[in-house]
Amino acid sequence: MSRTLVLVKPDGVQRQLTGEVLGRFERKGLKLAALKLVPLETAVVEEHYAHLSDKPFFGELVSFMTQSPVVAAILEGPSAVEVARQVIGATNPLEAAPGSIRGDLAIEAGENVVHGSDSDENAEIEIKRFFPELG
Ligand code: TYD
Repeated sequence: MSRTLVLVKPDGVQRQLTGEVLGRFERKGLKLAALKLVPLETAVVEEHYAHLSDKPFFGELVSFMTQSPVVAAILEGPSAVEVARQVIGATNPLEAAPGSIRGDLAIEAGENVVHGSDSDENAEIEIKRFFPELG
């Protein structure tokens, strides 16, 4: 059993896709272990996307992620990180397979509805980052 951190990004929440997105993970077989609607601080987003800080779109990415609340979830199940990334699809929705969240529900990389951790190590770091209250 492993776990991963998922965010329904501001575009997904504003488009009222939260139930659709979480439902896809649940139907796949991942189980909700924690869930909340939360506004993100700029500093938290800058830390979360530090690997992209030199990209030209970084400023836009940070303002997008802080424009309105996200839904943060911890999902658990066998190979949770890999399973969630498969359900989410490729970063660029034009390259995401039909049937994936981004393939079905998004057009632009900048507003691609959902985030999922990319490794078990990062999942634990991101769970601490977005659920500090869980200790
Ligand atoms: P990244 O961590 O590379 O991808 P993923 O979200 O699939 O783990 O990128 C983080 C976010 O940055 C991505 O979801 C959307 C945004 N982004 C862009 O807006 N343009 C880009 O060219 C890339 C690579 C990412």
